Amino acid sequence: MNNTIENLKWRYATKKFDASKKISKENLDELLEGVQLSASSYGLQPYQIFVVENPEIREKLKTAAWNQTQLTEASQVIVFANHKKLDEAYVDNYIKNVAETRDLKVEDLQGMADMIKNSTLQFSDAKQNEWAQKQAYLALGFLLNTAAHLKIDVCPMEGFSAEEFDNILGLEEKGLHTAVIACIGYRSEEDKMQHAAKVRKSKEDLFKFI
Ligand SMILES: Cc1cc2nc3c(=O)[nH]c(=O)nc-3n(C[C@H](O)[C@H](O)[C@H](O)COP(=O)(O)O)c2cc1C
Repeated sequence: MNNTIENLKWRYATKKFDASKKISKENLDELLEGVQLSASSYGLQPYQIFVVENPEIREKLKTAAWNQTQLTEASQVIVFANHKKLDEAYVDNYIKNVAETRDLKVEDLQGMADMIKNSTLQFSDAKQNEWAQKQAYLALGFLLNTAAHLKIDVCPMEGFSAEEFDNILGLEEKGLHTAVIACIGYRSEEDKMQHAAKVRKSKEDLFKFI
């Protein structure tokens, strides 16, 4: 079996973290770089990602997450917050980044800017929020994958009140909304779930070759 599959079989949604183990700065940097490299629609990355370390804030977040202990026992809590609504300035800023990064002229990217504005910015508010949330979930996927390779444990979570998270983190005034979260750190030896067999659909059920 190659390393990729071995690592993916090693990972599991960690229920109990070892609170005494912290992720090193180097490993955290690499993990976050994996998230930074996530694909996103048009490359817009319509989200901001918060790395929550502050114990008092994490205690509040735990209360807003049905008291799941991962919130306080993990090394960090990662909050994927999507932009609820993009505007022209957001797209222009992205185009400027493309131009600078690839040594191009903004004027030469006008067609691209118009295409993005004519699609994404035309969505209804609800659709824009939903679309941005999907991009945040994809970034969560990159986090899960990168973490598995770094042998960092993760519990992805949507068992929390997004409204309460938004209040605690002051996201509303930034036009952000909590989409999904992940607790990261190292598994406790006591976590029985690490020994549970993976439950997945069979390949025959899951994949259809046409
Ligand atoms: C989007 C998402 C939300 C989840 N929410 C929670 C959660 O709130 N609490 C929890 O303990 N596990 C949560 N899980 C973990 C899943 O239950 C777990 O990934 C699934 O049972 C498959 O098991 P495995 O990840 O251990 O292979 C979530 C997983 C995902 C992807």
